[in-house]
Amino acid sequence: MNRHSPPSAKARTAGARDVDEITGSRRLRRMRKTDWSRRLVQENRLSVDDLIWPIFLIDGEGRREPIPAMPGVFRLSVDVAAQEAARAARLGIPAIATFPNIDGKLKDVEGSHILDPENLINRATRAIKAAAPSIGIITDAALDPFTSHGHDGILRDGIIVNDETVGQVAAAAVLQAAAGADIIAPSDMMDGRIGAIRDALDANGFEDVAIMSYATKFASAFYGPYREAIGTAGLLKGDKKTYYLDHANSDEAMREIEQDLDEGADMIMVKPGLPYLDIIRRAKDEFQMPTFAYQVSGEYTMIKAAAANGWIDGERAMMESLLCFKRAGCDGILTYFAPEAAEILTRR
Ligand code: PBG
Repeated sequence: MNRHSPPSAKARTAGARDVDEITGSRRLRRMRKTDWSRRLVQENRLSVDDLIWPIFLIDGEGRREPIPAMPGVFRLSVDVAAQEAARAARLGIPAIATFPNIDGKLKDVEGSHILDPENLINRATRAIKAAAPSIGIITDAALDPFTSHGHDGILRDGIIVNDETVGQVAAAAVLQAAAGADIIAPSDMMDGRIGAIRDALDANGFEDVAIMSYATKFASAFYGPYREAIGTAGLLKGDKKTYYLDHANSDEAMREIEQDLDEGADMIMVKPGLPYLDIIRRAKDEFQMPTFAYQVSGEYTMIKAAAANGWIDGERAMMESLLCFKRAGCDGILTYFAPEAAEILTRR
């Protein structure tokens, strides 16, 4: 029935009320009718170009160690990480982000091993640059993999001291840039770190190394599996609420972004991802900057666990969650699903 063939009197009396009368003939379902029309009106798309792959590093050679809390994710020795980076480059993934599992013997209250130019992060950066020169490398200058207490800063008398930590994070960023990092992404949430890192990079001839700010990083329960992956789970005393954002706050998140941009951040990130899509949308609307989300370990694990139990279709849930980041305003997503999603996207 449409406006060109008026319904018979019988049909009119049969239904309670004519739907076209109610809607004025506007039927939103018309464009959803077929695959081709759905594709034609699709507003957002996910591509391989949107993916950043976080990987975990471990000492040794030829090692590929499963992480029980993150099925399908492994700790990789530097040589294997280099091979995996080359695979990611072949898949078209633009960048990888490295996170080290540091030997307990090298940890101390100040996380001083982060200042060793030959530490696991820097060795991996060099190896990856050599094996896959076309892929971008993002390194984290936070101290947590290196501290004996698992915090992201230097701990003195029960307090994570801000300014001393910032000095160390900035020095670590210079060493990471010297090893070949393209983007420094400090995940520690100390005040003033972006400006200090920018100054330190510039003073050492690394004007072209970019900064991706973990501008809005929330104190979150969703980081659990990551802490197992880098071996800080058993170490962490207390929580990170004195430096990460309160997950109840959105205005404060905008102030963090504003300040980091003033200090020289080139890109901003929201972390965790899915529970914070409102923050992503606000950030994109208010600042129009390159905006990224970190779909963190707990988010990955929830999808994997439900799929392993046969409770959801894991592949569809993965692709849906990634596309939803795009709809919310993301330019890209850090996700442990990166290679899996890239395989699917390149097959299409
Ligand atoms: C700490 C850091 C965290 C993650 C990366 N770096 C959070 C934390 O341990 O508090 C989380 C990543 C994830 O959960 O996937 N600087």
